[in-house]
Amino acid sequence: MSLALVLGGVMRNYDGEPVFGPFSHTFEAGTTSVVMGPNGSGKSTLLRICAMLEPIDAGSIRFYDRDEELNQDLVLRRRVTLVFPKTTVFRGTVFDNIAYGLRIRDADPSSIVERVEEALVSVGLSHKIRQEARTLSSGEAQRLGIARALAIEPELLLLDEPTASVDEKHTAFIEEFIMSLGKQTRTTIVMSTHDRNQAEKLTKQILVMKKGIIASNP
Ligand SMILES: Nc1ncnc2c1ncn2[C@@H]1O[C@H](COP(=O)(O)OP(=O)(O)O)[C@@H](O)[C@H]1O
Ligand SMILES: [Mg+2]
Repeated sequence: MSLALVLGGVMRNYDGEPVFGPFSHTFEAGTTSVVMGPNGSGKSTLLRICAMLEPIDAGSIRFYDRDEELNQDLVLRRRVTLVFPKTTVFRGTVFDNIAYGLRIRDADPSSIVERVEEALVSVGLSHKIRQEARTLSSGEAQRLGIARALAIEPELLLLDEPTASVDEKHTAFIEEFIMSLGKQTRTTIVMSTHDRNQAEKLTKQILVMKKGIIASNP
């Protein structure tokens, strides 16, 4: 199943200064939402909060599977993943880079090869499986980052400006991929971008952020 996410009056301060919120919004299960806004508007902060990688100073964040509210424990964390604007590539092959996330989640070893291969097909990188990951181009590395996220079959996939550092060809590929994943309802997707055309291509659920709050809503 996919997850729903309800933020109520969430606020985040840095050095005593309020920089984010109050932010209230429901991301419905199985939908694709895009958060749009200029640099510094709070997109990355929002995604880190949704990924439970950043504490909040006020308000609440709740995760639901159908009507059941979930504990924010390791089990939930394993159902959620955040792709950063620039993928960090580890030493080793493309295969190793994707398998790592499965191994630390105690995936069944016999399923690892299959899941890595499937994830690479999804992002069109199958032919690079044995390549040293650090020799990938930046566009390929970003696709690797997405494959790494996909391999763990997240129910909430958070993508922070996934096309910010890649060229047009890779951008088109990543957009296509997000659209096709969005058509299935297994995964709830929240992506950030500063590109309005891209946002409109991907979904009608567009939140425009300005100075840490929602400036307009669908
Ligand atoms: N770790 C941090 N320490 C202090 N200020 C931060 C930190 N992270 C983000 N901020 C501030 O929070 C605001 C929102 O930043 P961010 O979420 O990165 O915006 P965006 O991703 O839209 O560019 C900015 O003013 C930024 O300077
Ligand atoms: Mg950012």
